[in-house]
Amino acid sequence: MKNLWIFGVVLFVVLMAGTYAVVGDMMGDDIVNILTMAFAAIIVLVTILVVMKYIKQMKNDTASGELVDESWDGLREYNNDIPVGWAVSTILLMIWGMWYMTTGYPLNEYSQIGEYNKDAKISNDKIAKHFAQMSDTQKLKMGEGVFAVQCAPCHGPSGNGQENYSTGLLTAEDLTTRNMSKTYVSKVLHEGSNQLGYDGGMPDRFGLFNMNSGNLISDEEISVLSSYIANGFKDAVGSSEGRDIFTGTCISCHGAGLAKGAKGYKSYGVKPESDETGVEGYSTACEGEDCIGHGVSLVGPSLRDYNSCLVANLLKSGKKEGEIGVMPAFGDMLSMPQIKALSAFVAHGTDKEIEE
Ligand code: HEC
Ligand code: HEC
Repeated sequence: MKNLWIFGVVLFVVLMAGTYAVVGDMMGDDIVNILTMAFAAIIVLVTILVVMKYIKQMKNDTASGELVDESWDGLREYNNDIPVGWAVSTILLMIWGMWYMTTGYPLNEYSQIGEYNKDAKISNDKIAKHFAQMSDTQKLKMGEGVFAVQCAPCHGPSGNGQENYSTGLLTAEDLTTRNMSKTYVSKVLHEGSNQLGYDGGMPDRFGLFNMNSGNLISDEEISVLSSYIANGFKDAVGSSEGRDIFTGTCISCHGAGLAKGAKGYKSYGVKPESDETGVEGYSTACEGEDCIGHGVSLVGPSLRDYNSCLVANLLKSGKKEGEIGVMPAFGDMLSMPQIKALSAFVAHGTDKEIEE
């Protein structure tokens, strides 16, 4: 028995010395490190004591209790009750485990993630307050900065889509001009689309009614219309077919081809009072033909340029099934001032000089 005690003391000293050799110089006078060391000592001590207790018990104890009837190759088990302490601590541990996995760790602020979220919120609020009133130039400058970090890796430093030299294909959309391909427009018309966060989204072909013909849009019309839009809203010389289908079918959501003399708004989108993205749209008055396809705020996006409402919606929800690939969502990563700034910057033209 004495040997066992000597062994226990030696083991304790060796383990503690080893621990101290590894972390000792990090301890300094930091109370947390000292406490950690103290608890390490307690854990080692308790472990050694418990182990010794059981070794002793194994030497001296004789089995007792009621034996079960079955015998497995001559071995029989005792029919003892589960120790109460063991049962209670198992149940408590399970309850604690469930709490920890559902609300305790991931959401609670007393975790690294929680701490981080809390800090991030404080600084985001600060930034939001500081940049609540930005001038246009400030927005463009901030947008340019964020673009260089977050967007340029895919869209290229000037937003021109960065050609992939081996394939000649764009790795991400060219943002310097809004240029939808015929295939893309045609796909949207056939299937509809709902990913930019507009209420209701874009109906598929069975929701596209041509007021001029009094019928649902036909295959032929889809083809003409897709060419017209992909062509920069131009029909073949001498024809007005595409334009007519557009005014008959699409203007209610994508902006009016207004009667002569009537004023509308084009480009950057108009900010409606209820715009919950909080993005101020810049608007420019336009007339007639000039307004076609420029979108109606909160109803349908501009098909001609990147207005700030469209970009803000896009940043929040991303774009999943484009022709080129996936445009990731940035909603959680960017603060509201950054979204505003980027939206303004893309709408302004990522390749254009910013005037002071
Ligand atoms: C009921 C309103 C509505 C009508 C009518 C409508 N659109 Fe749309 N359209 C939308 C909305 C909303 C979106 C945005 C879809 C999204 O969130 O993905 C959209 C998106 C689009 C897009 C894709 C834009 C993008 O950024 O990817 C194209 C192309 C388009 N519409 C063309 C048309 C054409 C052509 C017509 C006429 C035949 C038309 N739309 C009629 C509401 C409409
Ligand atoms: C991981 C690469 C990647 C990053 C990073 C990225 N984009 Fe994109 N983005 C794409 C791709 C790919 C598309 C084309 C989607 C498609 O096929 O239609 C796209 C499309 C777009 C479009 C056009 C959407 C439309 O409906 O026409 C805009 C605007 C845009 N991105 C803005 C941004 C901004 C602003 C940022 C920076 C916050 C950004 N993107 C970061 C890959 C990226």
